[in-house]
Amino acid sequence: MRAALSDLPLTLDDVSFRAGGSAILDHVSLSIEPGAPTLIVGPNGAGKSSLLRICMGLARPTSGIVTWGGRTESRPLRRAFLFQRPVMLRRSVAANVAYGLRQAGYPYGLRRNRVRELLDRVGLLDHADRAARSLSGGEQQKLALARALARDPELLFLDEPTANLDPAATRSVEEIVLGASNSGIKVVMSSHDLGQVKRLAGEVLLLVRGGVRERAAAPVFFDSPSTPEAAAFVRGDLIL
Ligand SMILES: Nc1ncnc2c1ncn2[C@@H]1O[C@H](COP(=O)(O)OP(=O)(O)O)[C@@H](O)[C@H]1O
Ligand SMILES: [Mg+2]
Repeated sequence: MRAALSDLPLTLDDVSFRAGGSAILDHVSLSIEPGAPTLIVGPNGAGKSSLLRICMGLARPTSGIVTWGGRTESRPLRRAFLFQRPVMLRRSVAANVAYGLRQAGYPYGLRRNRVRELLDRVGLLDHADRAARSLSGGEQQKLALARALARDPELLFLDEPTANLDPAATRSVEEIVLGASNSGIKVVMSSHDLGQVKRLAGEVLLLVRGGVRERAAAPVFFDSPSTPEAAAFVRGDLIL
């Protein structure tokens, strides 16, 4: 059920994250507001996954402060996270979504209908009774999205959710993500697919070696990137 408190804006104030003796995020300050999707781009190892995990509250910064709706402590009731490789419970498709509803405290008597609604939303209603782990990679990612949406999230984080998917599955995942965004969910997603960033982004945040190198509305980022790294990304070149 919707809690009264909002997790937005999400702010990072001078956040650094160190692990294994090196700085993975280096003095990052930013604010995530409601609106069109924020796409996080940057080379492998730039810190995209670490940044998303900190935004979700899955990891704590070594220094600096994270706030959700002005609060430094916030149970992730209204946030959901999608990993590159979906993690499925060894149960049916429907039971995986029901699990998400239970976690969100959704009333028991209403769960059955809500499971069907969510499976319909991601195009998996015909597979409700199958074992989740027998689904294809693309179907599993759609199921992970249904389970995430079951939390009625205000913020949806996705870490390269289509990296392992074929174009058709990528398209369906993108459609679901855009649908979620259009319904008012704030989407924050990492990607290193230039085409995908063009298709989805309201704004782009470029991370290089743990620092925010550039952040701009998508049309500005693509038409007049102001750093060499952003220009390279827009050209489709490798950023080294
Ligand atoms: N818990 C950790 N311990 C040690 N090194 C880590 C840890 N998490 C991430 N790293 C390292 O930090 C760097 C950034 O990782 P990551 O956030 O996964 O970047 P990206 O998602 O942009 O590829 C990588 O070099 C990675 O190996
Ligand atoms: Mg990553």
